[in-house]
Formats: sequence, structure tokens, C-alpha cells
Amino acid sequence: MKAAVYRTYGGPEVVRIEETVRPEPGPGEILVRVAHGSVTTADWRLRAAAFPGVLAIPGRLMFGLRAPRQPVLGSEFAGHVAALGAGVTEFAPGQAVFGFVLQGAHADYLVVKASGAVLPVPDGLDLSEAAALPFGGLSALVFLRDFAQLTPGQRVLVVGASGGVGAYAVQIARAMGAEVTGVASGAHEGFVRSLGAEGFVDYRRQSLRGLETRFDAVIDTVGATDFAAVRAVLTPRGVFVPLNFGLREIGQALWARVFRRKRLRIGVSGDTKADLSVLAGWVVEGRLRPVIDRRFPLAEIRAAYALVETRHRQGAVLLDMAA
Ligand SMILES: NC(=O)c1ccc[n+]([C@@H]2O[C@H](COP(=O)([O-])OP(=O)(O)OC[C@H]3O[C@@H](n4cnc5c(N)ncnc54)[C@H](OP(=O)(O)O)[C@@H]3O)[C@@H](O)[C@H]2O)c1
Repeated sequence: MKAAVYRTYGGPEVVRIEETVRPEPGPGEILVRVAHGSVTTADWRLRAAAFPGVLAIPGRLMFGLRAPRQPVLGSEFAGHVAALGAGVTEFAPGQAVFGFVLQGAHADYLVVKASGAVLPVPDGLDLSEAAALPFGGLSALVFLRDFAQLTPGQRVLVVGASGGVGAYAVQIARAMGAEVTGVASGAHEGFVRSLGAEGFVDYRRQSLRGLETRFDAVIDTVGATDFAAVRAVLTPRGVFVPLNFGLREIGQALWARVFRRKRLRIGVSGDTKADLSVLAGWVVEGRLRPVIDRRFPLAEIRAAYALVETRHRQGAVLLDMAA
């Protein structure tokens, strides 16, 4: 089978398309014939060993000190069940599925745990749309629901509102009943409003400190702000949730927890079947739609990485495996 393989950390040029051995599903696993994957900021960070801040050391320990331990990246995917491992009863061969794994989806075939974040493709979505949902959707859901603890009627500011996570965060915050203001460049105002944002801030024209509105939560999907800048626009009990954090944010989170009412919360997003099912439900209800920026054949994965690394993508950057 074909796979996009990287054996050293580095730029997009370290990724090559190679013939590799097709994996076999073990007990409790399914083999998926991948139709679409995507390139995410997480894939870029793993490929380049560009772990933000303090995560550099645990990142290298976890993913390979001198060279990557697992040579195939790729987290979100959609495709068809090609084979079932022993004991799997909830899936059937040929069934269209989508889901999320830590790594390995930039390949023709992928083995996933049947109990993991994998589900049948919801009615009304095609495979490529389903592949665009898990990374941004799961991250946004976990950060808004679990870390920001958003409740209906609250005001939330989404920094990076047109990006890979932001385009989902705007929609999910709306689905949770919040009032959303999105931050992106002016060129993306119409797009961000089309996702459901009532308010919009062009970061090239206006600083956050100058905003008059106060927010119950600020979620920064890009790493463009810090607690000092955001504190001014938080309500007295507001919370700042940066997706990227370093030692400074860890210290600030601890300090704020003990001494302040305005909070900073940090964490790592999860990837459960239950949360994927929440996203699928919202899709079926018409409250969430996958957002696709561009599609590339697997052979052009380096160009897909280059687009992701601009930090100006609109939603997901897809890979078509069969193209
Ligand atoms: N902690 C965790 O568990 C976790 C989980 C998932 C992701 N993450 C991290 O979270 C980040 C999510 O990335 P992503 O894929 O959503 O990023 P992305 O797609 O690269 O973000 C692009 C967005 O950021 C905006 N933007 C660019 N520069 C900006 C600036 N200076 N100020 C404000 N907005 C700006 C862009 O708007 P314009 O194009 O209009 O400029 C666009 O809306 C990644 O760094 C990833 O590593 C962390």
C-alpha cells in the first residue's frame, strides 16, 4: 500500500510516498481502506518536531527523541471497512466510516480500535466531508465544553475563527447556545459570519485590548494572544483557553487558580467515540457542517503541508488517497 512516510524531523521535503506493508487488524480492531485523510497543524508539529513551548521535551520523548518513532502521520480519516478483527460486531465490511487516530492515516489502509473514535459516516455527508470533521470538531468541542465550560447565553471570543479548529469552534459554540465573536483577518469576515459568528474582529486593524465587549471565554486556536492581553476583555469570572501553551501559561494557570477569579485553563484535547457521536448528531441536525479549504492528492502532500503551515487555512486541508 502507499503511505506518506517521514523518517527524520524537518520541513515538508522529509515526507515521501513509499510502498509499505498493509497492516492486519487484531482482535477488537478494524482495517479501514482510507479514502480521505487530511493534513493538520498537529501533523505539521509532529513532522517538524515543532512542539510548542515546554512541550518540546515531552513531545520528543513521546514521539521519538532523535527521529520519529512512527513514520506515518495523519489523524482524521474517512473510508470503508476493509476487514474486521476478531470479536468486532458493531461494524460490517464495506461500511463507510470516519474517525480520528493519533497517527497513521496518511496511508491507503489504517487499523483502528473498534471502540475508539470511529463511527459510521452520518447520513447526508459524503466521505470527504466526514474526513474534515474530527480534528477541528473534537478539539473545539473539548476546549469549549470541558476547559472553557461554556454554558448557553455566554459570550465567547474565538481567536483564529476561520482556521482548522476555529471554523469548528465558532459553529460548536453556537450549537452550545453561546454568542460568538470571531477573530481573523478582514478577508475572512464573511466566512466567519457564515459559520454563525454575530461579532467579528479583524486582528490586523483592531487589538483585543480595545474591545468594549466582555467575554465569558476567550479561546485562542492560533497562539496569537496571551493572558495579559486577554484579561482586559474577560468578564470578572471569565476564562482564557489557549490551545498552545508553554511554561508561562502553565505558571499563569496555577497562579490564576489560586489567586484570581479570571482564569486561564490549559489542557489537551481528547478523541472519544462519544464526542465524535456528539459531532455527528449536530451534523445530522444541521447545526454543524464540515469546512474544507482545499483538497490535494496524496502525492502532493508536501503542498498540503505548505498550506497548513501558512496559518491562514480555512477549515480542513484534505488528502485524496486514490487520486
Ligand atoms: N492542546 C491541544 O490538545 C491541541 C489540540 C488541537 C490543536 N492544538 C493546537 O492548536 C492550534 C490549532 O491550529 P489550527 O489548525 O486551528 O490553526 P490554523 O488553521 O493555522 O489557524 C488559522 C487561523 O488563525 C488566524 N490567524 C492567523 N494569524 C493570526 C493572528 N496573528 N491573530 C489572530 N488570528 C490569526 C487565521 O486567520 P486569517 O487566515 O484570516 O489570517 C485563521 O483563522 C495548533 O497550533 C495546534 O497545535 C492543540
